[in-house]
Amino acid sequence: MKKVGVIGVGEYFPKKVLTNFDLSKMVDTSDEWITTRTGIKERRIVAKNEATSDLAIKAAKEALADAGLKAEAIDLIIVASITPDTQFPSVSCLVQKAIGAHKAACFDIEAACAGFVYGIVVAQQFIAAGTYKNVLVVGAEVLSSITDWEDRNTCVLFGDGAGACVLSAVKAGGIISTYLGSDGTYSDLLMLPAGGSRMPATCDTVNKHLHYIKMRGNELFKLAVNIMSAAANHVVEKAKIKTEEIDLFVPHQANVRIIQAVAKKLKISENKVYINIDKYGNTSSASTATALCQAVKTGRLRRGDLVLLDAFGSGLVWGACLIRW
Ligand code: UT7
Repeated sequence: MKKVGVIGVGEYFPKKVLTNFDLSKMVDTSDEWITTRTGIKERRIVAKNEATSDLAIKAAKEALADAGLKAEAIDLIIVASITPDTQFPSVSCLVQKAIGAHKAACFDIEAACAGFVYGIVVAQQFIAAGTYKNVLVVGAEVLSSITDWEDRNTCVLFGDGAGACVLSAVKAGGIISTYLGSDGTYSDLLMLPAGGSRMPATCDTVNKHLHYIKMRGNELFKLAVNIMSAAANHVVEKAKIKTEEIDLFVPHQANVRIIQAVAKKLKISENKVYINIDKYGNTSSASTATALCQAVKTGRLRRGDLVLLDAFGSGLVWGACLIRW
C-alpha cells in the first residue's frame, strides 16, 4: 500500500468580522457568556455576494500553490459541506470549473463537522489503491446562511470559512492510522429540519424558522467529549503509540471547553492543542481544515511532527486521523 500524505494546505476566511459585542446588540447575550461558555470572541461572515464555493475556490487555489501543483494535475476533488451553494450541482464541480481542474472527478460529501476528516480518509483510499494520484479535499461552509439570527442558543456559535489540502503519495511520513464512526440514533440532536424531501420549503417552513440549525447543545456536549476522546484513542492504539508522543492536536472547534476536556482525557498538554475558535467560531467542515492549515503556516506544525485530527458532528458522525507530517 502506498503511503499517503498532505502535500499542500490552504484556507480562506471572509473579511467581515462579527464580534460578541455585535451579537449582544442583536440578541439577549453578552461577551462574557459567549467567551466563558464557548471560547468564541468573534467569527467571520460572508459578504452578500459570497457563497460556499467562493470560499472553497480561494482555499483550494492556496492549497494547490502550496503543493506546487497545477490544477490539471488534480484527479479528484472532494468538498465537504453542509451549506452547498445550491442543492445541486455539487460545490466540488464549481471548484473544478473555477480552478480549471478539467481532468478531475468531483463529488461532495456530507459528514457535517467531521466532513474534512472523512474527505481525507476517502482521498487516502483512492491514492493508496492507485486509482488517483493527486486529490484535493476542501471543507467549506457558509453557516451564516443557515443560522437563526434571532436564536441566542445557536447564533453565537457559528461562522463561515474554508480550508483545503492536497493529498498525494509520499516517500516519508504520511497518514499512519484513521478511524471513522457514526451513530444515527442521535440524528435529531443537531439538524436542519426543512428544505429537504422530508419537509420541502413552503412559506410556513420559512415563517417557522425551520431552515435554520436546531441543536440540543447540552446533550451534544457530553457526547462530543466522550466520542472525540474514544476516536482519538482508537487511532493512537491502532498506531501503537502513546498520546504523549503527539506533537500537535488539531480538534474540531465546536467549543473550547469540549477541546480542553478531550485534551485532558487524552493527556495531551495544553501547549500541544491548536485552537482558533476564538477568532472563527464553529465553522463545521472548515474547522479542522483551517486549523490544520494555520498550524502549518504559523510553524506550529513542522515536518516530522505527529499530528492528530479529531472531529465530531451532526449525524452523529466522527473521525480521527494520525499523520506524520
Ligand atoms: O459542531 C459539533 C456539534 N456541536 C457541539 O458539539 C456543541 C456542543 N454544545 C455546546 O457547545 C454547549 O452546550 C453550548 C455552547 C451550545 C451551550 O452551553 P451550555 O453550557 O451547555 O449551556 P446550556 O445550553 O445548558 O444553557 C445554559 C443557559 C440557559 O439558560 P437557563 O435555562 O439556565 O436559564 C440558556 O438559555 O444559558 C442560556 N443561554 C444563553 N445566555 C446568554 C444559551 N445561549 C445563550 C447566549 N447568551 N448566547
